[in-house]
Amino acid sequence: MKQAADVIPSRFGQDVANAGLFFRRWMANPLQMGSIVPSSPALCRRIVAQTRVEPGEIVVELGAGTGVISKALLDSGLAPERLYVVEIVRDMADHLRAQLPGANVVEGDARRLPQLIPAEFHGRVGTVVVGIPLVLLPFEEQKRFIDAIRAVAPGRGFILYSYCVTSPLPWKKHGLVARREAWTPRNFPPASVWRYTPA
Ligand SMILES: C[S@@+](CC[C@H](N)C(=O)[O-])C[C@H]1O[C@@H](n2cnc3c(N)ncnc32)[C@H](O)[C@@H]1O
Repeated sequence: MKQAADVIPSRFGQDVANAGLFFRRWMANPLQMGSIVPSSPALCRRIVAQTRVEPGEIVVELGAGTGVISKALLDSGLAPERLYVVEIVRDMADHLRAQLPGANVVEGDARRLPQLIPAEFHGRVGTVVVGIPLVLLPFEEQKRFIDAIRAVAPGRGFILYSYCVTSPLPWKKHGLVARREAWTPRNFPPASVWRYTPA
């Protein structure tokens, strides 16, 4: 049975979840947000479980929103200086800076990822977590994000969470291999965690 605390952010996590800010942004630009509420604790746990990082590497999160996944990564023991979060909306980036002390919050467009991540970390990215709703974009736009990820994390691929039952990306056309690593009904809507790696 679903437990409410797993689907809806708890009072304790309210500052990070900031559902009001999230909803306002969804009203302003539903395609850019892709969801009306932040990811649930249950989904965040599954994403953290799929995140790999070796000594000297960083983790990059694209489309961090109000920061629930970033916070879960930090709570799992990731050192804040090894986390780079990219968010295009200024209000959200400001919120993230306040909520994630020590982490690297970059306000910008993830399609420009190579310019947003310091060159010293190119090729030293353990995992890229994608929160941007790529499924809503046409193929050529999806490709711009995938090419940007490939430039900073060659050979690594990325994790993408989605509410789709089938792969949210046409993986063969993108030259990727897709694997559904996890699923949870304890999210609104129920969500899967997909891993895409170069074919
Ligand atoms: C579905 S929300 C995910 C929020 C958060 N990761 C979560 O799980 O609750 C998508 C986020 O991607 C951001 N976004 C959309 N397009 C972007 C882009 N081109 N570059 C960076 N962030 C973007 C939106 O502003 C929004 O915060």
